Amino acid sequence: MAKKTKLKTDQSANGLFRALKTDPRALPRTRPLYRRMVDLLEGGIARGDVTPGVRLPPERELAHALRVSRATVVSAYRDLEARGLVRGYVGRGTYVSAKPDAGSAPFAWRGKIAATALQSTDTTVRDLVRAAADPDVMSLAAGVPALDCFPTDAFRRATDRVLTREADTAWRHGPTEGLPRFRAALAARFGGDPEHILVLAGAQQGLDLLARCLIDPGDAVVMDRPGYLGAIQTFRSAGARLVGWDITRADIDELEELLLRYRPKLIYTNPTYQNPTGVVLPIRLRRELLDLAARYRVPIVEDDTYRELGLTGPAAPPSLFKLDEAHKVVIRINSFSKMLAPGLRLGWISAVGPIVEQLALIKQQVDPHTQNLAQLVVCELVEDGVFDRHLATLKAEHRRRRDAMVHALRQHVPAGALRFTVPDGGMYLWCQLGMHVHAREVHEHALRDRVVVVTGEPFYVDQGGAHQLRVCYTSQAPAQATHAAHTLARGLVSAARRTAAEAPRVRLV
Ligand SMILES: Cc1ncc(COP(=O)(O)O)c(C=O)c1O
Repeated sequence: MAKKTKLKTDQSANGLFRALKTDPRALPRTRPLYRRMVDLLEGGIARGDVTPGVRLPPERELAHALRVSRATVVSAYRDLEARGLVRGYVGRGTYVSAKPDAGSAPFAWRGKIAATALQSTDTTVRDLVRAAADPDVMSLAAGVPALDCFPTDAFRRATDRVLTREADTAWRHGPTEGLPRFRAALAARFGGDPEHILVLAGAQQGLDLLARCLIDPGDAVVMDRPGYLGAIQTFRSAGARLVGWDITRADIDELEELLLRYRPKLIYTNPTYQNPTGVVLPIRLRRELLDLAARYRVPIVEDDTYRELGLTGPAAPPSLFKLDEAHKVVIRINSFSKMLAPGLRLGWISAVGPIVEQLALIKQQVDPHTQNLAQLVVCELVEDGVFDRHLATLKAEHRRRRDAMVHALRQHVPAGALRFTVPDGGMYLWCQLGMHVHAREVHEHALRDRVVVVTGEPFYVDQGGAHQLRVCYTSQAPAQATHAAHTLARGLVSAARRTAAEAPRVRLV
């Protein structure tokens, strides 16, 4: 351990060879010097004497120390880089990237990956969607609506109509912004100007495009705390400094302080049936938020994904986008993932013309246009009223599922072990665990019984969420609620016992 620490701080040529306890010139001269250096460094990395993240001595310094030409050192570093063991960054030096992989591929791809791509290491979203697609587990993790309500027959008939009348439009390329008829239908049903809509392959694509359009590395972004984990992941990968605004307290003075202190590039919020808390920002706060954004000239990205999923209580206040008639500071993201099905991959952004234009320019590079067939079929459903009838059915089913889950948890989970507020809409119960129980333990316990929930941590831009869980109540039929509650109860009881058993030891420390 001491050896590794030493090398981290001593990146000189002498430091390197002290750590390796050998000088390459002392090795048998059967191989060229650069090969001896490669072998030595490879062995050092494999043993852990030279750990990932360590910066190797600059080429010139190493060449001087070994009294060899710089070309010899360059050859050695190139060879190591081709094996994926080190990675050179222009102006920053050469860093150890990984240990050699036993039985590795003949070509070291890992070493070829761009430095920015290596920042995408968070697997949370992928894990959630994988669990949601696994028939052997009961997923209460990913946000999935009641898919058995999907209007399959109407969808099939609409597909037939589209393929009879508009096959040519379906199979050709389409405009990057989206098909004009679909944009018109979206504007008519959800508001906005059809010319200022960009159709997307889901809201997550919109977040990625917005991050690339608005965020430079180091920019601050203020966002809900806790907030949507996919947005956290995307903004973080873009190099943003994330600053949380407590969405449950929703204190406007606190937000103003954050704007003053961090001068953020944008505010991201999901103010209607928020993921994960279910919070709805009242109209007064919406107006104050808009005033602040206009005053400090900070754009707001409003994620409106859950707006149509109100179940009980008063109707949700108008969106920030709708209220923002004068300032035009709001960019709104919507999606059919929660209203119809996530598998459709269909969403859209509404914003002022120049932003839609810039987003379209970025989108064309990764996705020249969103699938025409999906746009045309959903357009038919929206135009002929099937969509709204489906939404009414879906909400009634979601209400049943929410009530069944709430009832089952109250009945089977010991008092005080799990606290939550029953949300008026959206798809989640945001649960606070009692008695210092760690959500991760409950998650692991439930997983052994093939039930998946998400722990609170990925919803926080900073520390937080260790004692919280999010439970999606819409994805499982009401009859499954009892099994889910029993499993969670067992996990909670077992985790609470462990916490209690460890408590005296913790106090002694
Ligand atoms: C707030 C929020 N925004 C965006 C998304 C991503 O939705 P989509 O499936 O349309 O990419 C989700 C999905 O859970 C979400 O909760």
